[in-house]
Amino acid sequence: MTQAKRIETERLFLRALTAADATDAYAGWMNDPSVNRHLESRFATLAKPDLVRFIDACNADPSTHLFGIFLRDGDAHIGNIKLGPVNAYHGLGDIGLVIGSSSHWGKGYAREAIAALTQFAHGMLALEKVTASCYGSNVGSRKAFVAAGFVVEGVRHRHFRSDDGREDGIMMAHFRPSK
Ligand SMILES: CC(C)(COP(=O)(O)OP(=O)(O)OC[C@H]1O[C@@H](n2cnc3c(N)ncnc32)[C@H](O)[C@@H]1OP(=O)(O)O)[C@@H](O)C(=O)NCCC(=O)NCCS
Repeated sequence: MTQAKRIETERLFLRALTAADATDAYAGWMNDPSVNRHLESRFATLAKPDLVRFIDACNADPSTHLFGIFLRDGDAHIGNIKLGPVNAYHGLGDIGLVIGSSSHWGKGYAREAIAALTQFAHGMLALEKVTASCYGSNVGSRKAFVAAGFVVEGVRHRHFRSDDGREDGIMMAHFRPSK
């Protein structure tokens, strides 16, 4: 399918992934318990062919926009961010992301990628509302979305099961700026 292939930010670029991006490093993030502990993908061990299937499925779905997150300085692939599946009738799309290595956490990369993809969603796709959710204990995720301009819309109490027991689900949203 065709989709916007590249989004530039101050320190990052986001581009569509191909099978060549399914590296050992990417598989390593997805199988690292410290990275995947709040991801629904954590229940399966993912090998490179699984990543290729995921990339191909996203790229074949016109309502899903999967991007790799790359550093402009050196081109390293540091994570992924996905918008969708988009509900075109309601003008909705949900964002999820991973920054794969803890060495890249806390530098504002998630905030920067979220803000850029949200702008793409409201601008290129004309979505009225972009949503996201995270586990209550995922402070970094909540803070990154809020830093990118999202508001907390609500809390789904004791919504998720995690290693820490039952956890709240934090529902967040970003609304299309009025013209
Ligand atoms: C959650 C995650 C996306 C955050 O990415 P990041 O690039 O570290 O986030 P940012 O650097 O943009 O951080 C935004 C804010 O959160 C803070 N923050 C980041 N990680 C934090 C943590 N573990 N605890 C507390 N605060 C944290 C940052 O200091 C920053 O605060 P500020 O706005 O006051 O400066 C990243 O840790 C990650 O991919 N984790 C594994 C997968 C995951 O949980 N994905 C999200 C699923 S909803």
